[in-house]
Amino acid sequence: MRTQILLAVCSFSTFWTSLAAPSALLQYRDTTSCPTGPLTADTWESYGVDVFLATWSAVNVTVTPTDNVQSLAASFGAPNFFCGLDETCNAGQPCVPVDIPAWYVLVAIQNWNSYMNAMNTALNFASTMISLALPGIVSDFYPNPTDNITPLQEIGKVFTTALSIVPFTGALGTASSVVTKGLTFVLGIVKPPALPNLFLDWSDVSTSLGKILEGDQNALSSAITTTLNSPVNSSTGINQIVAGGDFLGVNQNFTENDIQSALINSTTVLAISLIFQAQKIFIAATFSVNGNCADSTDNRGLKLSYLCVPNSSGEGYQDYLLTKNDGSSDGEPADLDDFANLLVNKYGISQQTFLVGPRDCLTANGGKQLTDSFNGTIPLDPTTQCLFNILVCNVDGGAADVGIVQDCQDQGLDV
Ligand SMILES: *[C@@H]1O[C@H](CO)[C@@H](O)[C@H](O)[C@H]1NC(C)=O
Ligand SMILES: *[C@@H]1O[C@H](CO)[C@@H](O)[C@H](O)[C@H]1NC(C)=O
Ligand SMILES: *[C@@H]1O[C@H](CO)[C@@H](O)[C@H](O)[C@H]1NC(C)=O
Ligand SMILES: *[C@@H]1O[C@H](CO)[C@@H](O)[C@H](O)[C@H]1NC(C)=O
Ligand SMILES: *[C@@H]1O[C@H](CO)[C@@H](O)[C@H](O)[C@H]1NC(C)=O
Ligand SMILES: *[C@@H]1O[C@H](CO)[C@@H](O)[C@H](O)[C@H]1NC(C)=O
Repeated sequence: MRTQILLAVCSFSTFWTSLAAPSALLQYRDTTSCPTGPLTADTWESYGVDVFLATWSAVNVTVTPTDNVQSLAASFGAPNFFCGLDETCNAGQPCVPVDIPAWYVLVAIQNWNSYMNAMNTALNFASTMISLALPGIVSDFYPNPTDNITPLQEIGKVFTTALSIVPFTGALGTASSVVTKGLTFVLGIVKPPALPNLFLDWSDVSTSLGKILEGDQNALSSAITTTLNSPVNSSTGINQIVAGGDFLGVNQNFTENDIQSALINSTTVLAISLIFQAQKIFIAATFSVNGNCADSTDNRGLKLSYLCVPNSSGEGYQDYLLTKNDGSSDGEPADLDDFANLLVNKYGISQQTFLVGPRDCLTANGGKQLTDSFNGTIPLDPTTQCLFNILVCNVDGGAADVGIVQDCQDQGLDV
């Protein structure tokens, strides 16, 4: 099989990378007998490929129970066009043997097939990246982890994001619009599984990640199979996918390092925030009209776990404390200066992100705690509001009498 692919590459020079540069094709074709335009959606449009494909399929393709994409290619005169996971289907040169505009259809299908295979690669890269990153984070922030708290799909968001950043056009990371377009496409056809009642095993992350990887790769594989087997002009068929010609110019070039550098910082922020949620670490936020920053803490030697800033309206001060109920009898929660120190000095996460951010997120979501603002994915910018998200307690006047912990519990917070 491998030999076959290599031969195809050598003899026709239409392997993947050359498609990015249509001009590379010019030297191989006779421009008078087989005129072609650049591999773009405009060319697709100008040849009326959507209409051509629909009418051709209706008349010339006999619907079969499976392998309808192959039947389509065969009807064009290319019977050896086998797409699939870990397969490379090759459109060949224009007019050799498939004529224009049918050749554009095969190029688009070839590119779709490469795109799906690239997503499979991206899932593997994401899994490797997370499995390398998590153990260090766990040992820093969760040395005695509990394994039945964090829903597995929370970390599954990283895999979905990896799928969505596989470049739809151009190289990875060149345009932020890529994420949106990729995500719409991915969620439209791949649908990562829901993973209900499964939890992230913090003490053995590789097993957990393996479950996500398997589920996502199965979803991808069945999306490919469904498309290949569906009648080409049905709602799940290939005609719908290549419609419009976007896949003509598609080119996905990325390495493991590309995926890693795009996702690692956001993944780190997500993981730390999930670990804090698991330990019921929260932000105690206090507003003080008359106080000032020095007065608004009881000065227990707090350092990076504490931040006090003037209220933006200039009417007082707002202070923020990263804290945790340690069950002490005075009702005062524990100081988490050690964690705050690691966040700032080891992980480069600012006080603004981990102290102020969660409360801004709470406010922006009308007081709803721990909102998923990113629809099952994560943003690539690790400072995006709501990515670092933990419970927030707006400490009110009652705190003076009952202590912060009781006050927050009285408000219904599980701290
Ligand atoms: C069906 O295929 C033939 C060539 O085999 C072609 O001439 C004809 O135009 C096709 N029909 C449609 C509706 O595309
Ligand atoms: C894709 O990769 C090839 C080979 O590594 C490289 O020559 C080419 O410049 C890359 N294209 C883009 C758009 O990054
Ligand atoms: C092909 O599918 C489209 C969309 O499902 C539909 O509108 C069209 O009528 C179909 N064409 C033929 C020739 O069956
Ligand atoms: C990720 O973090 C590292 C170290 O803090 C930084 O150098 C790099 O620019 C960050 N990358 C992104 C995409 O934010
Ligand atoms: C600033 O303080 C006023 C009360 O005087 C309050 O209404 C407002 O929400 C505070 N602003 C912020 C950003 O906390
Ligand atoms: C979230 O994703 C679903 C598909 O899974 C989509 O239907 C929905 O519109 C998306 N919501 C937002 C706010 O993007």
